Amino acid sequence: RSIYLAGVSGERPRVPFHITSLEQEAEKRLSAQAYAYIAGGAGAGQTVAANRADFNRWRILPRMLNDVSEVDLSTRLIGLDLPAPLLLAPLGVMELAHPQSDLAIGRAAAKHGVPLIISNQASRPMEEVAKAMGDAPRWFQLYWSREEELVKSFVSRAENCGCSAIVVTLDTKMLGWRVNDLDLAYLPFLRGKGIAQYTSDPVFQRLVDEMPEDPQAPKPRINLKSLATLWQMLNAHPGSPLDNLRSGRAQKAVKLFTGIYTNPTLNWEHIARLRSYTRLPIILKGILHPEEAVRAVDEGVDGLIVSNHGGRQVDGAVSTISALPAISSAVKGRIPLILDSGVRSGADMIKAMALGASAVAIGRPYAYGLALAGEDGVSEVIRGLLSDFELNLRLAGGTRPSDIDASWLVRAP
Ligand code: FNR
Repeated sequence: RSIYLAGVSGERPRVPFHITSLEQEAEKRLSAQAYAYIAGGAGAGQTVAANRADFNRWRILPRMLNDVSEVDLSTRLIGLDLPAPLLLAPLGVMELAHPQSDLAIGRAAAKHGVPLIISNQASRPMEEVAKAMGDAPRWFQLYWSREEELVKSFVSRAENCGCSAIVVTLDTKMLGWRVNDLDLAYLPFLRGKGIAQYTSDPVFQRLVDEMPEDPQAPKPRINLKSLATLWQMLNAHPGSPLDNLRSGRAQKAVKLFTGIYTNPTLNWEHIARLRSYTRLPIILKGILHPEEAVRAVDEGVDGLIVSNHGGRQVDGAVSTISALPAISSAVKGRIPLILDSGVRSGADMIKAMALGASAVAIGRPYAYGLALAGEDGVSEVIRGLLSDFELNLRLAGGTRPSDIDASWLVRAP
């Protein structure tokens, strides 16, 4: 209601409500490289497209004569009491969108009580994000490093800064074939960005110190553009920027990061080991196959995020809304399912929940809000989506997320 009233009184929102306009406005604001990195997917973009298109294979079948005067979106999910079945998916390198990056995102999430899954590739250390969020709910997303000590360190830092679950992302044992980024030569562009969780970590710092000097290492070429990045990298390390420059420490850190941040050996044994590292709930992100979903239940995992990384990893992979029904029937409600990749509207949320999700997460839409208006932009994107969900839920005959079930949907003709 407040959104409509503000509109009537001539107040302009800071970000467009319409998702296509939101994306277009953000594209105008971002550099070509930053936009390509955020919006892009793997390969020919088949899975990015399918994530959206496959929501249209289902239609909502509204009911009219229910009393929908009182609505309550609150949702219990893996130990959290949430205002609505919505989370913010982990997004790395958000300094591309806004200098306040994860701090702005954390504050906006906290304002709504919507949990933020803090990325392992965030632009700010998780402790700073946690501080910006106060008591608001947050989880930590882990990329399993080749350095097991670093994994342990990330997990214990997450525990210490109030993250109430560990989300292990499974689909990024290596980066997907991202042609947009390759065409725009994004590797030098991303160099030194999104590594704040690493440079702020004592184990990582020790590993940097232990790296031998490389006399062959090329001296960085300094121009105006690289200077800003270099300054940021130097400041991200303990000790004075000048010392860091002399010792080549920042360059070593980037090199080390590139070598260890993912681990192609990741398998079920790692997940079992994680159980021994933490008592926090463990959530697996990136499961698409029902057999793996069942195995996850058997292994004592506490929840799944049905995700294809927003179409950025396996091009041609199944859309998440198409993968969900089989996973839901295999899991049989034993652990909660969260769906991400392609969620853009209240209708999408209803469809995901009708097919078995307990909640959904969004990625790119809030990155666009961030690009346009920082914390306020993220906040408006959340508010818009929740309003859309609430209205659509009531107009379709429901008052609670738990009212939504398979009887709400039909297949599109
Ligand atoms: C991501 N995603 C991601 N996932 C993750 O586990 N850790 C990460 O650091 C990132 N980083 C990241 C950066 C950017 C720019 C994008 C677009 C995505 C994937 C993300 O968590 C989520 O799965 C998708 O973004 C969801 O799809 P939509 O909502 O963007 O379509």
